[in-house]
Amino acid sequence: MGFNLQEDILKYLNAVGDVDTLDIAVHFKTDHQKIIGAVNSIQALGELVSTEAVSHQKWELTEEGTVVADKGSHEARTFYAISPEGMPLKDLKVNLPDKNLHSVGFSKAMARGWICVDKSGEVPVIRQKVSSIQDIVKDHMNLIRQQRASEVEENAKQDYKKRKLVNEVILKSYILRKGNEFRTSVSKPETDLTSEMISNGSWKEKSFKSYNFDALGTPLDCGHLHPLLKVRAEFRRIFLEMGFTEMPTNNYIESSFWNFDALFQPQQHPARDAHDTFFVSDPQYTKNFPTDYLERVKCIHSNGGFGSQGYGYNWKIAEAQKNLLRTHTTAVSARMLYKLAQEGFKPVKYFSIDRVFRNETLDATHLAEFHQVEGVVADYRLTLGDLIGILAEFFKKLGMSKLQFKPAYNPYTEPSMEIFSFHDGLGKWMEVGNSGMFRPEMLRPMGIPEEVNVIAWGLSLERPTMIKYGINNIRDLVGPKVDLQMVHDSPICRLEK
Ligand code: PHE
Repeated sequence: MGFNLQEDILKYLNAVGDVDTLDIAVHFKTDHQKIIGAVNSIQALGELVSTEAVSHQKWELTEEGTVVADKGSHEARTFYAISPEGMPLKDLKVNLPDKNLHSVGFSKAMARGWICVDKSGEVPVIRQKVSSIQDIVKDHMNLIRQQRASEVEENAKQDYKKRKLVNEVILKSYILRKGNEFRTSVSKPETDLTSEMISNGSWKEKSFKSYNFDALGTPLDCGHLHPLLKVRAEFRRIFLEMGFTEMPTNNYIESSFWNFDALFQPQQHPARDAHDTFFVSDPQYTKNFPTDYLERVKCIHSNGGFGSQGYGYNWKIAEAQKNLLRTHTTAVSARMLYKLAQEGFKPVKYFSIDRVFRNETLDATHLAEFHQVEGVVADYRLTLGDLIGILAEFFKKLGMSKLQFKPAYNPYTEPSMEIFSFHDGLGKWMEVGNSGMFRPEMLRPMGIPEEVNVIAWGLSLERPTMIKYGINNIRDLVGPKVDLQMVHDSPICRLEK
């Protein structure tokens, strides 16, 4: 029965549409409470139905009202208790032994002008004053008993309430509607299709719970990657897709030799000043360099060579030995190109993404450290056209296809180009990187063959990350003020989107 009532209700709802539980109770000739119980069980199965609580006002007969409906009103019964020829008033008490009936009936019948008392004789005589009466109160009680209270005037109902013939009651019920998962069967829907269901064919009869593609899933109880790491992963993916190999960048401390001298950056260059570079005090110097290469570097700075006139100053090893926090990852590229030349040159594509340090004035977009993304391609007879082509390919993968190049200067590249990209969101051209072809003064002392050209470019990881994640102040991205909730909430990075 339990299940049947639930299914019967669902089928009824399916047939008639939105329906009040009170009407359901009438339809199934069942107690309303039972219907409510069945609806609760249906709701426990999921969103088969939805309910809306409603209240109804209703009139009910009291016990006395029921007597009136059956036997007539007090006043009518008083009227009929009087014999047509009249009778002594005291006999009325005999005919109407009920005290309440007697007193209420007498006064109401008098008020209606149905009866009168004749006091002209020896004893008061009570008489019917009209030949017939219509007992409206009884009629009304019957209407109310048949749930037709709306046909009875409001004033009259209030009057009957005062006479304690009727009670006003508030009934609570529910409007039942079909829910998102409406069905007329109450068997629990399956959540999994098993091999057994397939082999015995029972899947055909079963109902299956539909997938909730909006479900958020359980929050992962684990660490979360910082936006810089997410963007780094994207850059790494792009480089790997383009066939690049990652360079080992695991040394924040570098000698001036590899950071500057190998890159043909003169020893008087302002970038080598303590105002721009963090020098290391302990250990202050690196002493160990490939001797003959060091000689060639010294020579190219002081006297020139390989068709270059050099800078013509007195190159000092003491300056090259100074340790520092590397100011760019191009120091790593220099080490790698030197190594490549020693091993016997072959064309390569290298990249690196790691931290560099500069003694900068700190502001909303600059810290004393940031991450550099660097790409290096070494091959025979590369041209500036190759550099532009590779940059176009690389930045297209980052979602930047409108590029412009502006001549620039680096001590180690010639020609050099700053790279600008039009940012659709911000509606302006933005500098996105720096690039160039490494100078022969850098490559030839290493032993890179003469027909080989090396093109390279670099950009910061922070700038695209800030744009991508809408962060305006670098301190919100790096450092002690970073909101860990931001790290937790930041979405995965898809650079081309
Ligand atoms: N090292 C340059 C910088 O720090 C970037 C760069 C790399 C430029 C390679 C040209 C070639 O900005």
